[in-house]
Amino acid sequence: MAAQWLKDAVFYEIYPQSFYDTNGDGIGDINGITEKLDYIRDLGCNALWINPCFDSPFKDAGYDVRDYKLVAPRYGTNEDLYRLFREAHSRGMHVLLDLVAGHSSEEHPWFLQSQRAERNEYSDRYIWTDSTFQGGDGLPFIGGESERAASYVLNFFKCQPALNYGFLHPSKPWQHAANSPAAMATREALKDIMRFWLSRGCDGFRVDMAPSLVKHDDEKKTGTSAVWRDVRRMLDHEFPEAAMVAEWSDPPLSLRAGFDMDFALNHRGGCYSTLLRDYVNSDGEEDRSYFKKDAGGSINRFLDEYLRWYEDTKDIGYISLLTCNHDTPRPRRTLDETELKLAYAFLFTMPGVPFLYYGDEIGMRYQLLPTKEGGYQRTGTRTPMQWNRGPNLGFSSAAPEKLYLPVDPAPDAPTVESQEADGSSLLHTVRELLALRHRMDGLKAGAPFSVACSEPGKPFVYRRGGLLLAVNPDGAASSAEVPCYGRQLVYAIGSCTPEEGRLTLGPQSFAVLS
Ligand code: GLC
Ligand code: CA
Repeated sequence: MAAQWLKDAVFYEIYPQSFYDTNGDGIGDINGITEKLDYIRDLGCNALWINPCFDSPFKDAGYDVRDYKLVAPRYGTNEDLYRLFREAHSRGMHVLLDLVAGHSSEEHPWFLQSQRAERNEYSDRYIWTDSTFQGGDGLPFIGGESERAASYVLNFFKCQPALNYGFLHPSKPWQHAANSPAAMATREALKDIMRFWLSRGCDGFRVDMAPSLVKHDDEKKTGTSAVWRDVRRMLDHEFPEAAMVAEWSDPPLSLRAGFDMDFALNHRGGCYSTLLRDYVNSDGEEDRSYFKKDAGGSINRFLDEYLRWYEDTKDIGYISLLTCNHDTPRPRRTLDETELKLAYAFLFTMPGVPFLYYGDEIGMRYQLLPTKEGGYQRTGTRTPMQWNRGPNLGFSSAAPEKLYLPVDPAPDAPTVESQEADGSSLLHTVRELLALRHRMDGLKAGAPFSVACSEPGKPFVYRRGGLLLAVNPDGAASSAEVPCYGRQLVYAIGSCTPEEGRLTLGPQSFAVLS
């Protein structure tokens, strides 16, 4: 049973490095998040997901954890984070931390012990072959780096050795079973980390690479799912209101594995991509995204996958649509402000629990930057939040060259302040949409969804509870034969004309009718 508070949750994702710097060292901090809680609440977001904020050598921006129980000194102290939990709760808000379950940093004390030649408590905490000259049986591996005469398996970058949750069907002497004592010890260590934060006020976790735990798993992820179901039993028993969102992008599997939510953020061509980033090449040219004006895109490319997931999972959990995240190009890279308004109107009125990435509410741009902390092309999505026209756009009082990443240098870089002053801004639209979502029962996470018209060349018309909604991303007006008798317009972007047997939307328009 999913946490009750998710029914009306809207998440705000924060990359802590870049949100708000309160001590002038050029990098965002926990106290900066606490200071901006009122801003986030007034935006309409009542929950946070904070990217990893734990001690780390930062070779992958903190997804290489060196101490799971310690806030990275550059962000502040554990006390600061406990205070953030308390301040959030006093505003009716919830906070998810990022749980990097599949790997640690190569500098984690467990791994340093595991690398030693003599056997010790952590020898089997990671996946080791039985010889330095033995590869990883199809898995990425590193040899020749340790005193121990064996190779170890990686989960992602070179700095991220895979924790040992075992193999579904061990086929080599060095492969442990998923229920072996070694794999079970890793599982218990994971639960211990979760208990540590949950008992101090954290409300749950976003789980990094959630399907990656058990190796040589089958298509249905039988082995990894069993681990998560075991974790869920612990949560149900000890922290029933804790929420878990998977980075998995396969809701039929992840929600059955005990997650409350899963991101619809999958491969190119998958449903999320078709909405916001369906470019022909990676330069963003020739954009066929559904919300790109005049791209002639069809919503059916989205619906084909989404509806299958939705019908299969609507009674067991939530699909999370998102504006973007720290790994993907910002949507403003290819969509302009009007296109973004329509895209967000859609994302924030769909079922499930939506996620807004910091800065997308003002249409922050994607920057072309050299890589920082293992970001590579993701770096351009991780620049400092743009608060106002002050030094460093209000992010930090440090000298510009001291900043974690440079701020958007464009003279017309959007800021919260400039958009507050403009009643027609994207920021205002986001506030209106989220306020509407909180006000209307039909827009809650679990309210039913069905399609009323998805014919190409017509507006996409859908029902949520008793509401009728429609969006027309195209530059020309269009109508659909949908009965609107007796309906009232509650919200619109652009124009909408409801008639007895048809609904007409103006160019680039969106409407909600009750
Ligand atoms: C996830 C994170 C990404 C990270 C990777 C390895 O995909 O979102 O930022 O680099 O996992 O932990
Ligand atoms: Ca700081």
